[in-house]
Amino acid sequence: MPLHLAGPSNIKGHQWMDMQAKFKLLAEKERNARSGGGQERIASQHGKGKLTARERIDLLLDEGSFQEIGQLVTHRSTSFGLDKQVFLGDGVITGYGTINGRTVYVFSQDFTVLGGSLAEAHASKICRIMDLAMENGAPVIGLNDSGGARIQEGVVSLGGYADIFHRNVMASGVVPQISAILGPCAGGAVYSPALTDFVLMVENTSYMFVTGPNVVKTVTHENVTSEELGGAMTHASKSGVAHFTAPHELDAIGQLRKLTGFLPANCEERPPAHPYDPTDERRPELDSILPENPNQPYDIRQVMNAVIDPDSSMEVHAEYARNMVIGFARVAGEVVGCVANQPAVLAGVLDIDASIKAARFVRFCDAFNIPLLVFVDVPGFLPGTDQEWRGIIDHGAKLLYAFSEATVPRITVITRKAYGGAYDVMNSKHIGCDMNFAWPAAEIAVMGAKGAAEIIFRNEIKNSADPEATLAAKENEYKERFANPYEAAARGYIDEVIQPSETRRKVIESLRMLRNKAKRLPRKKHGNIPL
Ligand code: HXC
Repeated sequence: MPLHLAGPSNIKGHQWMDMQAKFKLLAEKERNARSGGGQERIASQHGKGKLTARERIDLLLDEGSFQEIGQLVTHRSTSFGLDKQVFLGDGVITGYGTINGRTVYVFSQDFTVLGGSLAEAHASKICRIMDLAMENGAPVIGLNDSGGARIQEGVVSLGGYADIFHRNVMASGVVPQISAILGPCAGGAVYSPALTDFVLMVENTSYMFVTGPNVVKTVTHENVTSEELGGAMTHASKSGVAHFTAPHELDAIGQLRKLTGFLPANCEERPPAHPYDPTDERRPELDSILPENPNQPYDIRQVMNAVIDPDSSMEVHAEYARNMVIGFARVAGEVVGCVANQPAVLAGVLDIDASIKAARFVRFCDAFNIPLLVFVDVPGFLPGTDQEWRGIIDHGAKLLYAFSEATVPRITVITRKAYGGAYDVMNSKHIGCDMNFAWPAAEIAVMGAKGAAEIIFRNEIKNSADPEATLAAKENEYKERFANPYEAAARGYIDEVIQPSETRRKVIESLRMLRNKAKRLPRKKHGNIPL
């Protein structure tokens, strides 16, 4: 800060100099705080392909919008030489700013200061902005890059983590919470991101695990690298812990900005709509999208892309349980949460991972007033010992529970198959869907025609002169009766059988009709979802 030589006439000379010294002290402290752990550590951070905590905030928020809170906070520990390692801000930068003009609260851990490690003061700064976010109804974005609990401070670090975990849970469903993992995240520290709504990881520079490779080797004798054990691709494709991955931090920050654009500030608001000019909403390409053979795959994304506004989507969990596609999109400018079976992967079957993936997304959309648009092409639940022994019953029930409890506007389009329990689970009328559409080629039945014929006509087939021909005839009989949408439509389970090209128009009209839906759940403390 420049030193002014002449002071205002109503202040005496020595007072003026005192004031200038005070301004200088403040400027020094600010400079000091902004320098983090020093040039050497900043260079090392850049050398690893990582940005600094402040660079990340500057890129994430609208230019000049960041307002820092708690820049001068320091730890109070004297243990193990910490009294000689006091850094302003205590290794985390906290505050608020805007993304496309909308307020968000942010914390950004500074790995250059004591490895971004968390203890009492560091945790209290994070808690403070979480409290502000809750009280003022705006999202919290955490930029995580930390060696975990600050070892020198002992148990207060554990207390600090638990204070954050508790707030994560209290904020769940109140304001959106997003975690970007931009460096190490190990031990109990992983549980704060896990409690938030979305986790984004950067390839090759971030990892998450409860115990690292060394402990794994000692306990289970497995040799595994950090990347294999808990890198971005591992969590995006195997565990499902990460919803998004990015090849580098710039891309990650772009994704965070995009994601917030779909979300309301809090559970009392609607998600932000975009302007929309009505045009011809027919989509003739949908009339020829289904293959001739009902057992042939097609990409459900083609259907979704034709129904939503052009280039308006953001897929969530793209690499995990690919037999289910979920993501945000806009229809006529309004945000929707899309959930779809993917016939191009495992024939779109419902299994444990797909059920969990969709259930969590449905819960998020419902918590934040985002209407659900569901595309169904599902042959049923995946059979087998692996699924049964790992609990497909409970996990499948999660999706059933999530849809059943959702009070947002809900629309279903059955494009082809809707068989067995999977028909019920996939946002059927019976569990509270508002508008159910089916395409003319839809097959809505208890099970496939061949299996059904084999069971109900077993004796007839066995005793016939030509069992094969009898089976084929009975299969056809069952198909004609049930492998269509009209039996369900006759009972009102389907509101309308529509030409595929009319799907977008019908979805727009339904969303408009359901705009003011106000459904309440029965009074209770909370339900007991089969966790
Ligand atoms: C204090 C830490 C620290 C920590 C790193 N540092 N982690 N200081 N507490 N937890 C310091 C280092 O001493 C070093 O300081 C500086 O940060 C940079 O660390 P490096 O090791 O040089 O960096 P790098 O080689 O990139 O390795 C990063 C790392 C490693 C893999 C994270 O630092 C590491 O293993 N740290 C310990 C991780 C750990 O065990 N944390 C506790 C987990 S248990 P100098 O001054 O030398 O540069 C936990 C429980 C939480 O978190 C439970 C919640 C319920």
